[in-house]
Parts: sequence; structure tokens; C-alpha cells
Amino acid sequence: MTLLGSALIAVASLLLLGARIDVAHAFPGGGPGFGLLPVTDATPSCAGCHATTKTEYMREVPPDAPLNATNQLMSEKHYKAIEQGADVYKLLPAAEREKLLKQVKLVDQNTSISIKVPKEVARGKTIKVEVSAKGGIGPGSSVMLVDTNLRMQARPVQGNGWLIVGPPEVIGPDGKPQTFWVDKRFTGLAKNVNFVVIGGGADVEKGSYPSWKITYTLQAPAKAGRYTLAAAFLYGTEEPNEHKEKGKWTLPAGGLLGPSGRILFTDVVEVEVK
Ligand code: HEC
Repeated sequence: MTLLGSALIAVASLLLLGARIDVAHAFPGGGPGFGLLPVTDATPSCAGCHATTKTEYMREVPPDAPLNATNQLMSEKHYKAIEQGADVYKLLPAAEREKLLKQVKLVDQNTSISIKVPKEVARGKTIKVEVSAKGGIGPGSSVMLVDTNLRMQARPVQGNGWLIVGPPEVIGPDGKPQTFWVDKRFTGLAKNVNFVVIGGGADVEKGSYPSWKITYTLQAPAKAGRYTLAAAFLYGTEEPNEHKEKGKWTLPAGGLLGPSGRILFTDVVEVEVK
């Protein structure tokens, strides 16, 4: 190979490496301003790195599948990795790992999501679906309105014939409306999406776990029957220090591919369309 050839390959590799680092900034949470998270309808299956909070979310997956209900659990995938100093966590001294594990567990224990829906609705009429979310380390978390609590099979509610009427309405921890997410929708695109990022997060040292209300207005399907609904909550537990050092993007301790993200669902609720 000529000298020029080798030099070109070296430059190309550097560029590729650079590009990879940039793309990787899509996660966690999409980097500053949640850059590359999808500003559209979404499903929990997108969050491959995240750990689940309950085994029932993968109840349809055979137990011997490479990714299964047990090994995707936060206790197995995340707590154990910190405890044992596996993967990136081996870079942290034992005392720091202990501190991190304490923080992560506190975030999990103080994070919750619930859903309220009317029991019935006439075909074509509208209902309000109220979702209450709390916790997550921030700088934001995300909520999706789906049909069931299966990590790999839940779909946006629209898939079963519900129409989301207007943008999801978010009331932030300060009691004020948050529209920054739906405002990202490109000129001319409707804002009635099932996925919304909510801004803010926990301060574990202060014991502060903020909460949000997200209201979806749904028009009932044209076909009568019993329909199920659930909301999914995607949140982080470590700290992509955006809010600690303003403007400076640093990664959570577990890194970009780490298991510190979570998938948590509300109960699955039923609405009868008459
Ligand atoms: C490459 C691995 C990976 C994938 C794929 C991934 N995430 Fe994450 N995500 C993470 C990690 C790691 C965190 C946890 C950060 C922390 O501990 O605070 C996270 C955290 C989050 C957060 C909380 C905000 C934040 O910045 O911590 C949201 C919201 C989120 N992810 C949404 C999504 C969505 C939506 C998808 C699918 C489009 C997705 N993630 C796919 C790794 C991933």
C-alpha cells in the first residue's frame, strides 16, 4: 500500500470514529436538548439498552432467549453490574459503586407512573386519559401511550383505532404547561403524537422527586369492543450530568450502552367502546 493510501485510511478511520461518537450522542436521552430522540410516535421496544422494572413486561419471550424477562430486569442487568464492577463499572472504585447503587435504587423506588381512564365511551366520542408520572433522574424522561405492557409488542394506541386529538398536554413539576417537546414537530406536521419527553428530574441528595401530569384526548374507535390502554415511562437512574454542569455533556457512569435506563408501565386498564 502506498503512503498516501495508508494516510487516507488513517484519516478515514478518524473521521469514522468521530462520526461514531457524534451518533452515539443520540443516547442517553438524546444528548443536549434530547437531540436525536424520535419526535414522533414511539414504542418501548426502541429502548434496547434500558432495563425492565418487572418480569411480566417480557412474559411472551421464551426464558432461554438471549434477551429474556430475567436478564433484562434492572436487578440483573444493572444492580448486579454495579455491584460486581462489570463492564464500564470496573472503572469505578468500590466506594463509588456503592454510592451509585444507592442513588440508582432510590431513583427506582421513587419513580412511578399511573393512568386514569373512564370505564366506557360511545364510538367516535372523546375521552381524557390522565397519566401521572413521578421521578427519573432527568434531565428528562419520556411517556408513551400504548395498548399493553409488553416491552417488545406494545404499540401506539392509534394502532387499535384510537385517534389522539391534539398534542399531549404536559403540566410540569412547577405547575406550568411544558410544550418544548411537541414544539419540536416540524412545520406543518400535526402534534398529536403518543410519545412525549417531559423536562426535569430528581435531586436524590435533596430527596426531591418531581411529578408531571400528561393528558391525552382520545377519540374512540369506530368499532365497539373492549380495548386496553397503558402508559410506558422511560427514565434514567444515573446522571448524564447535563443539569450539574450546564452546557457540558457528560455520560452516565454506565456509559452510552449502559443498563441505567428503565422501562416502567402503568397498570393495563380497560375501556369499553359501545
Ligand atoms: C444505546 C443504548 C440505548 C438505546 C437504544 C436507548 N436508550 Fe434511552 N437511555 C440509555 C441510557 C444508558 C439511559 C440512562 C441515562 C441515565 O442513567 O440517566 C437512557 C435514558 C433515557 C431517557 C431519560 C433521559 C436521559 O437523558 O437519561 C429517555 C427519555 C430515553 N432514554 C428514551 C429512549 C428512547 C425513546 C429510546 C428509543 C428511541 C431509547 N431511549 C433507546 C440508553 C439507550
